[in-house]
Amino acid sequence: MKKYCMITFGCQMNVHDSEKMAGLLKSEGYSETEDPKDADIVIFNTCSIRQKAEQKFFSQLGRTKAIKKRKPGLKIAVAGCIAQQEGSSILQRTPYVDYVIGPQNICAIKDIVRSDSAVIATDDNPNVADIELPADRKDTVRAWINIMYGCNNFCSYCIVPYTRGREKSRPAISILDEIKELADKGFKEITLLGQNVNSYKSDMNFPALLGEINRIGGIERIRFVTSHPKDLSNELIYAIRDLEKVCEHVHLPLQSGSTRILALMNRKYAYADYVKTVGKLCKEIPGIAITSDIIAGFPYETDEDHKTTINAIKEIGFDGIFAFKFSPRPGTKASEMTDQLDEGIKTERLYEILEVQNKITEDKNRMLEGRVQEVLIEGISENDSKKFSGRTRTNKIVNIPSTKSLRAGDIVKVKVTRALRHSLEGKPV
Ligand code: SAH
Ligand code: SF4
Ligand code: F3S
Repeated sequence: MKKYCMITFGCQMNVHDSEKMAGLLKSEGYSETEDPKDADIVIFNTCSIRQKAEQKFFSQLGRTKAIKKRKPGLKIAVAGCIAQQEGSSILQRTPYVDYVIGPQNICAIKDIVRSDSAVIATDDNPNVADIELPADRKDTVRAWINIMYGCNNFCSYCIVPYTRGREKSRPAISILDEIKELADKGFKEITLLGQNVNSYKSDMNFPALLGEINRIGGIERIRFVTSHPKDLSNELIYAIRDLEKVCEHVHLPLQSGSTRILALMNRKYAYADYVKTVGKLCKEIPGIAITSDIIAGFPYETDEDHKTTINAIKEIGFDGIFAFKFSPRPGTKASEMTDQLDEGIKTERLYEILEVQNKITEDKNRMLEGRVQEVLIEGISENDSKKFSGRTRTNKIVNIPSTKSLRAGDIVKVKVTRALRHSLEGKPV
């Protein structure tokens, strides 16, 4: 039996693409191995969102060269966003790579891996949203589901529109059928995936789609990522409020608190618009968690702009953020802007952002001490095998000492006994 080794970088979209490639390879008789030395094919599913992600991949790829020397039959595939961006130049740079597969072409992986000669599959695939692929999911409780592909927003810093192509929504009926199947298999939570789920459009819009999913028996929790602030409608806010399975958490990337920088980023909203949207969310959905992404050190960002971002973070009080140093990506508008900041300044600003947010996250978590939360159990805690681990509806991790036997998929009421910076501890009530 042939074996594949899948090495995945990047976002949830990529993790799910890996599940689909795994599903296709398994249907072809392959089995999985975690050890590249043991594999007949190694697939790197890559990410090019920041330079660091790219470097991480290239250094890992380099290590497979030696394995291939000892085992010449080994095939090496580069899939994902770097594959799309670099195309044939990957074969020039690293000639031991056999296949280059862009995100829109993973559906062809079965044919590709049969080929004895090199394959570069990076053409635009207009049917990407209509093709159904069997995903080999590792989790048995929580599942990712694509509802749309690509992105039309062209934020000036972002590579994604170039690697994932134009926005395409998947037909509602095919999404609903997949979720029904998952419910039958015992899945409890689904996360709908798209670069900008609020602009989902098929024969229904996104709030209507949530309404349909909410009616599927067996599914207990519905989540979605990512929301773009410019498209978060009142209708969606009411849907989150009124649909009992839709969790009280929105990931709403702000990127910067400075409206001047937001304009340079081509985000199409002002800071005041963002605050207004957050105000509505908090008013309609008490207890909602709001998380965000922030970029530190965008071109032209002054000390003043940076302070504005720090103040914004304090004013809004996010439950958590992902913060990144601006990384110029080839071909994007921001990479060509003349006023690029020093690495040192970017680092300083990033640390300040993280420091301010860490304190807010801790305070927010502490406010939950003594409160009862609904937790979906995911399994044994990664850090402590004597504890179970799960998440609140607001997506906070809760570790629970195993007083009674709990199983992945159980939904339990838990009293929060202690708040830590990045997780909570609690006991079932
Ligand atoms: N479609 C999603 C996710 C995009 S990538 C969205 O719009 O939110 C996730 C995050 O990576 C972005 O929100 C942004 O904060 C960050 N990011 C993207 N490009 C970047 C770059 N060139 N440098 C630094 N951070 C970047
Ligand atoms: Fe990138 Fe902006 Fe699209 Fe998100 S919305 S994927 S940040 S271009
Ligand atoms: Fe995701 Fe990275 Fe591509 S964040 S969309 S895998 S560039």
